[in-house]
Amino acid sequence: MSADKQSSWSYAEGLPDEDEVLLRARDRSYELGVTPVSTGVAAALTVLAATSKAQTVVEIGAGAGVSGVCILRGLGPQSVLTTIDSDVDHLRAAREAYAEAGVPGNRTRTISGRAADVLPRLTDAAYDLVFIDADKAGLPLYVNQAIRLLKPGGMLMLNDAMDQDRVADPAIREESTNTLRQVGRTIRDHEQLVSAMLPTGHGLLLAVKMPAIRK
Ligand SMILES: C[S@@+](CC[C@H](N)C(=O)[O-])C[C@H]1O[C@@H](n2cnc3c(N)ncnc32)[C@H](O)[C@@H]1O
Repeated sequence: MSADKQSSWSYAEGLPDEDEVLLRARDRSYELGVTPVSTGVAAALTVLAATSKAQTVVEIGAGAGVSGVCILRGLGPQSVLTTIDSDVDHLRAAREAYAEAGVPGNRTRTISGRAADVLPRLTDAAYDLVFIDADKAGLPLYVNQAIRLLKPGGMLMLNDAMDQDRVADPAIREESTNTLRQVGRTIRDHEQLVSAMLPTGHGLLLAVKMPAIRK
């Protein structure tokens, strides 16, 4: 990467001016050993949620609530975020962040459990947005489930799609990196999806489920 590109990237990540609610949620994330979304991804999530006019959202990997607060801030007052996490302490911290952000309790549904067990119980084609930010090993399943859960016109958002910047280096053959390469190919080649990679954070891969098969 050129020095200019690197400084543009750092400049863009430094632009969002996060408030106390997000800063406290970030602190709790680090205390719990959770990596929250970057400031650039956080801001993008709010914008994407706002432009989508989503009513129903699924998040896989609540963490301590940074991404959830950002998504909720883009959504309208009737919308509901369903968020899944296997760690009860993380979910407790996420609920604290939603409360501090002034989100009414009926706008969030926090589900404790492994995503592989929870996702199959959610209704087909009932969600406008799905955000994935959990374990890499589960990604192939989560992406398939997300495609099933999305309404036509709904959008999948996958965080860390470049696996901490490892995906682009063909010499790196780590399992998580290979999984992300494979998942990226699946999404790009999927006949029902149109996709784009936002190079913010470590890659935010976006894919919209088209109403009809296109390829
Ligand atoms: C990177 S953190 C999520 C950070 C969060 N999105 C944010 O920005 O604040 C990943 C989360 O996924 C959860 N997780 C890991 N494996 C999981 C699984 N199999 N099912 C559900 N949640 C899982 C972890 O407990 C952790 O809270």
